[in-house]
This record gives sequence, structure tokens and C-alpha cells, in this order.
Amino acid sequence: MSENLFPVPAEWSSGTSMTKNRRAADHARSLDDGEGYWLEQARRLDWVTPPSRANESSFAEGDFGIKWFADGVLNVSANCIDRHLATRADDVAIIWEPDDPSETPRIFTYRELHENVCRFANVLKGAGAKKGDRVTVYMPMIPEAAFALLACARIGAIHSVVFGGFSPEALAGRITDCDSNIVITADEGRRGGKKVPLKTNVDEALKHCNSVRKVIVVKATGGAIAMEPGRDLWLDEETAKVSSECPAEPMSAEDPLFILYTSGSTGKPKGVLHTTGGYLLWASLTHELCFDYRPGDVYWCAADIGWVTGHSYIVYGPLANGATTLMYEGLPNWPTPSRIWQVAERHKAHTVFTAPTVLRALMKEGDDFVTSVDRSSIRLLGTVGEPINPEAWRWYHSVVGEGRCPIIDTWWQTETGAAMIAPMPGATDLKPGSATLPMPGVEPQIVDGDGKILDGACEGNLVIARSWPGQMRTVYGDHDRFFQTYFSTFPGKYTTGDGARRDADGYYWITGRVDDVINVSGHRMGTAEVESALVLHETVAEAAVVGMPHDIKGQGIYAYVTLNANEEPSEELRKALIKWVRTEIGPIATPDVVQFAPGLPKTRSGKIMRRILRKIAEGEVSPQALGDTSTLADPSVVDNLVANRVG
Ligand code: WTA
Repeated sequence: MSENLFPVPAEWSSGTSMTKNRRAADHARSLDDGEGYWLEQARRLDWVTPPSRANESSFAEGDFGIKWFADGVLNVSANCIDRHLATRADDVAIIWEPDDPSETPRIFTYRELHENVCRFANVLKGAGAKKGDRVTVYMPMIPEAAFALLACARIGAIHSVVFGGFSPEALAGRITDCDSNIVITADEGRRGGKKVPLKTNVDEALKHCNSVRKVIVVKATGGAIAMEPGRDLWLDEETAKVSSECPAEPMSAEDPLFILYTSGSTGKPKGVLHTTGGYLLWASLTHELCFDYRPGDVYWCAADIGWVTGHSYIVYGPLANGATTLMYEGLPNWPTPSRIWQVAERHKAHTVFTAPTVLRALMKEGDDFVTSVDRSSIRLLGTVGEPINPEAWRWYHSVVGEGRCPIIDTWWQTETGAAMIAPMPGATDLKPGSATLPMPGVEPQIVDGDGKILDGACEGNLVIARSWPGQMRTVYGDHDRFFQTYFSTFPGKYTTGDGARRDADGYYWITGRVDDVINVSGHRMGTAEVESALVLHETVAEAAVVGMPHDIKGQGIYAYVTLNANEEPSEELRKALIKWVRTEIGPIATPDVVQFAPGLPKTRSGKIMRRILRKIAEGEVSPQALGDTSTLADPSVVDNLVANRVG
């Protein structure tokens, strides 16, 4: 057992103000005296009007609602930029590392960030954006993406970032759902030496949307694109015409800050809505507690701004804390598997924060790609997005971190805004594969299928028993769906959709999703989304999608497809279906396996028994593994599925 515990190294316990005892005491106080604790924490932000109350949330059906710091007034962009100008205007806010390592990085001080964001905000105003409008951001990982978010926040517009890898169809759906009137994009993106036709994708998407009035285009590559007169504006031309000052709009703490679409158990992605005060406080506090930022450090979260990790840990958390945040345009393994460490070396990063799937892929390439690069600047290693297998954890810790860097395994969700369960450097003994202990104010519980709270060491469904400041406030446009999805399964508690184990030390071990969401390379994918895409194909009658184990991605996508009566299965059609899903949703949804199935295992009431499909995808085809099939309408379907299993 002792080799599975990594105690806080001596140099850490003396080097940080956070200690084991203080962590425990803070957590206890945050639960016992929540109002006192949170009103005190609220002082880490700059308020136009400080809040007089903290938590006014209820998970109960009768008076359901999430509300924090409701009478406070502030602006997120002012908190991330303006308040730092008095003392650190010339400190670096953003370092940008380009996709191509032979190009020159771009660097922005807080003063330069202020000017860029103010001009961008004025361009948005000129394009007609007003407080409360929804602005869709479909951008590569360039500094202008961060400027765009902060510019929206500055004028009180609500941004909705759509990952640059999503297809025009997926983009159109998200624009329409929140009725965006402005889209911000770039001519093209670049990743791993390849171009991504962002503007062309926007043009395609807008054929299906009629809410959009203006498209603001950043010149990133200079590639040839079409501009529609009257609708499309070049950012550089517009910024030259506007003032470099733009007052920050005073916002109520509960005014919306952003929408971010995420997959759920149904076919339609949910617009997760976060608000101003609680979200920023949560991002800022957890960034400080997890990453022990010290003045002069370069902090690097290697995520994409298209995901919540990019929002909270590239932009809002670090900038609220006055940190230097590194943004990287490209891929961790291009042009060489050393690139991720080379980026850290070039900019003397103190933190590298990435996903387990990246580590598993790099681990395969061998240690030389790591050890040949100077990693002495790195003090902390973070991970997020999926459970980290102990083997990858140990490699990260011993090979990458030379045994001296804590591994900060942060468990959280788009819905939770920022980290919920995670180690704090200097204060938490580590166990490979465990996200360890809850952050202040977080009260995790493990419940069984009937909602009974389990005590001590146990395994079951992970729920959170009370609200925390960074909790999502609603599903955009569908408050009832918010309640039904997260608060109806176990009344009075927030249901995470994850399973977890708690050990005798109170450490949490996330075991993965318990719903129909799969986690492909740390990205959430609703199986229903892939199914909906498949059945849109003219040859497909029915489809069922499940996760399958995958060495690098964690989970892969296994699709069972029933063709229309007059269609014949073929290798060609299999390839065509895989390509179809890629174009409908985006490359991250590419099925790993398509198995043609004349029939799917259904109960007599017509419900597909996914349990059986999952087992077959996992290669577990013995009668014991498949369990009782007698309740199926046609048990012989299973024999056919087993006989034609792919892989
Ligand atoms: C999974 C990403 C284990 C989990 C921030 C969660 C994790 C889903 C971890 C949310 C972790 C995220 N250990 N599992 N450290 N971090 N997950 O919304 O299943 O993209 O519910 O947010 O990822 O994914 P999302």
C-alpha cells in the first residue's frame, strides 16, 4: 500500500502556505459557516457593489434555483484586466506559442491585453452587440480567441464558444439554439501543420441559420476566403477605426457570462449556462489552490478554448489572478512527440496541465522524447478530462516530473465550472488514479441506486449535496431540462452522472460515466448524438452506439448499424458511414467500429438493451458476461451480434 501513496515532499510542505491541516480546516469551515466563508472569499474579486449575501440556492423541486452573491455588481473583464493595471501593467498576461515552432511567439502585457480587449469590445458594439446578446465564437487557439471572450464579458454579451473541430452542421445547431446574432471566427485555423477552414465552415453553417447579422473575421493565416459584403467584417480593419478605451459594463453577479454546449444522454447538446460572480470566483479560487501560482511563473494549460478547461484555466482563472497564461495553437505531438515539453522549455513553464489521453499517446513513443528536453522549470503537472490510469500517472510523475512534481488530477465538469475534487500542492498526499479530496464548499456524497447515502469506504453514484459558486445555473432556454437532468434522479442533490469509489482515507476515485455519455480522448460524446447522425444517412434504419475500451483514447466509439431492407452491407458503406459521422459532427465523433447488425437486442417493449451491446463491444461474449437475454423480443439477435463482432 505504501508504494501507492506519495506523501507531500518536504520542499513542498515548506514552500506553500497551504498545508494538510489548513486544507482540512478550510473545508470544514466552508461547510459549517458557508455564508461567512464565501463572503470572505468574495473579496478576492473587485466589485462595483460588493455582495451582502452569498448562497441563496435550493436543489428542492418547490423552490429550485441556483443563486450566489445576487446583489453584487462586477465585471469579469475588469477583474481579469483593469484591476491589475495599477501594479502590473507591464507584466505578461498572455504568451502565445504558434503551431509551427519556427515562428515567433506573441506576447501581450496586461496593458496590451487591455487595449486589445477594449478595441475588440468596441468593434462588437459597432457590429450591434448589446448586453445579453449571444455571440458565437468559433476560433483557433490564437490570442484573439481570448480577446473575444473578454470583449464579450466587457460589454455584457454572452459568449458561446464552439470548438473549432466541430462541423458546420454542429456549429449551425449551436448558433440556432441560442439565437446568436454575431459570430466571431478566423479565416483559417492551424493544427499540426494542417489548415482548418473555419470561415468556410461558418459560411456553410450560416446557410442554415437566420439569426446572424455580422461575422467578425480575424486574419490568422491570410488564406483566401470569401467575405460577404454587409455581413462579414475583418477584425483588423474595424479595430483601426475604434477607440482603445471601452468602459466595462457593470453586471449583476447573476447575469450570464457564457453558454457552452456539452453532450448529455439525449441527442441534443445542452447549452450549459454560467453566470458572472460565482463562476469567476470559483475559477479564480480553484486556480490558486490547485496550481500554486507565484509571481513571475508561467502557467500553461494545454487545453483548447472550445472546452470548459480552456475557459476556466486558460482565460478566466489565471487572468483573474494576474498570472501569465500560455496559449498554444497546436498539437502536443507535432512536429515531434517532444513538442509539448519543448513548449514548456521554451517559455519556462512552471505548470503543464493536460489530459490523460495525451499522456498515454506520448508514453507509447518512449521516454527519450521527454528526457531529451529540459524540464527543470516545471514544478507542477496537472491532468483533467477523464480518469487517469495509474500507469500513465506514474509515468507522468516519475519520467516527466522526475519524481519532484505533484500530479494535480482535477475532477470536474462543464457543469461545475471549475475543479471540484483535486489535490492541492503542498497539502495533499497523492495516490495514482485518485482525484483525492473536495475543494472548499464542495460536499460530495456517494449514493446507491435508490439514493441511499453510503458511508465510509464505498462505491456508487457521485452526487454533490449542496450548491457551490461555480455551479451552472440552467440549460439555456430549457430550465426544466436542467432540473430533470441533474436534480430529479436523487432529489435534493446534484447528480454528476459519474460513478465513484471512496476509500478509507476519504479519497475519491472516479470510475467513469454511469449514463449514456462516453469519454473519447477526454471529450464528452453523447451516444445519442452519434446515433442521430447515423440515422440521418439514407441507408440506415437504426443505430445503437456504445463505448469500447481504447488504449489511447480511453474510450472508443462502437456503432451497431441496421440498414434499410433494400441495402447490402459492404466495406465501402462502412467507410462511408464513418465519414458521414465525421462530417455531421466532427472528427472527434469518428466511430472506431461500425458493425452491421440485422437486428438490435430489444425488450418486448422495444427498448434497446445497451448492457448487452456494451459487453459485446468490450469483447465479453460469454453467456455469463451477457447475462439474462430471455427478456429480449428475439434472443437469437445476440448470437448474430456475437458472431459478427468487429475487432
Ligand atoms: C470526466 C471536463 C476522472 C468525468 C473538465 C466528467 C474525469 C466528465 C476527470 C466531464 C478526472 C473529468 N478524473 N474523470 N480528473 N475530469 N472527468 O464536461 O466523467 O468535458 O463527468 O469537463 O469528464 O467532462 P467535461
